[in-house]
Amino acid sequence: MEFLDAMQHRFACKRYDEHKTVSDAQLKQILEYGRLTPTSFGLELWSFHVIRSAGKKQALFHACFDQESVATSAFSVAVMVRKAVFADPDGDLVQSRGKRFPDPLDVFIDDYRPYYDYLNQEGHLDCWLKSQGYLAIANMMTGAAMMGVQSCAIEGYNEQQVLDVLSLDGNQWQTSLLATFGYPAEAERPKIRESLEDLVVYH
Ligand SMILES: Cc1cc2nc3c(=O)[nH]c(=O)nc-3n(C[C@H](O)[C@H](O)[C@H](O)COP(=O)(O)O)c2cc1C
Repeated sequence: MEFLDAMQHRFACKRYDEHKTVSDAQLKQILEYGRLTPTSFGLELWSFHVIRSAGKKQALFHACFDQESVATSAFSVAVMVRKAVFADPDGDLVQSRGKRFPDPLDVFIDDYRPYYDYLNQEGHLDCWLKSQGYLAIANMMTGAAMMGVQSCAIEGYNEQQVLDVLSLDGNQWQTSLLATFGYPAEAERPKIRESLEDLVVYH
């Protein structure tokens, strides 16, 4: 399927066919779309959690205000991102990520630090980290649609309950965004979108 076709036929699926499984190869490919997604400064301060066992799915269903899309999905992916303290330019995580790049570490840190300081002063670090996960989910959703797998982004969740389901510490991790995946048990809904003429401003 072409990219534009996939965009046009992807729809927010609220109920999946529980008898149709998404293969492990397809799951891996969807995760690969997430992995290849860019992050700010290439820091990748995130991890992807796949929720597919019956028990965890049920727990996540409740953590997401009993949304049927979660309960009936083949699997859900939660993009979890680090809390602000892990973005410190002098911290172990940033230093180890920074070492992977072609430039020496101090060049990378000198480039990164002023932006980090700015975000920190504005109190925007957690929001900066959280927003990056949306890109990964978007790529996973469109990539899945190209394979005929439907999805739904899930922002309706209880933060603490999601952390509990994934056995994560809220001092270290926060939820960016979740998405459910599977084959639909409902008809595709047509797109409702404003026209480009109404959306775009050229300067
Ligand atoms: C960030 C984000 C969060 C969303 N959260 C939910 C959600 O919790 N539950 C839900 O049923 N749909 C959720 N949606 C789906 C949107 O309602 C849906 O994508 C939108 O109405 C457009 O419809 P379409 O995806 O079928 O084109 C979310 C979408 C986005 C982008």
